Amino acid sequence: MTKVKVLFVCLGNICRSPLAEAIFKHKVTRRGYESHIEIDSCGTSNYHIGDTPDDRTIENALRNGIVINHLGRQLQHEDLEYYDFILAMDRSNHQNILRLDHTNQHHHKVFLMRSFNADDTHDEVPDPYYGGPRGFQQVFEILDRATDSFLQHLTKNFLLNKK
Ligand code: 4NP
Repeated sequence: MTKVKVLFVCLGNICRSPLAEAIFKHKVTRRGYESHIEIDSCGTSNYHIGDTPDDRTIENALRNGIVINHLGRQLQHEDLEYYDFILAMDRSNHQNILRLDHTNQHHHKVFLMRSFNADDTHDEVPDPYYGGPRGFQQVFEILDRATDSFLQHLTKNFLLNKK
């Protein structure tokens, strides 16, 4: 059985995308889909390669019952080939991912993270890095809802009868 491969992408890979990865892994495991979905995250920049996630992200996630376990890495061209869903946290990341796809072959796999909920009136996950603690909780709540919508999309379209 082939796996659905999902990659979450932000700028630094220390705040938004490792949190999205951890929340999504938690939900996928709880639903018993862990052998059908492969999940990772990365950044479009090289700022935090090998770094652990931002302490504020780790602590805020823990307060919400989520453990993050990730080391920063930069998006590579091979990721465009490998992953089935490449989910960008904001429009700038989205543009940068598409720019790496020189031949336009993989554009159909690149989405904005918030695009799976038709009722969501915003399309970006805001960058909390330069803000205060409330921003980290806000990002957590946005990603909690967005990952629910994305998992619903996957279960409806790819994971039926796969337990
Ligand atoms: P992220 O947040 O893209 O959600 O990981 C950022 C982390 C670091 C930087 C920018 C955004 N930075 O400029 O170092």
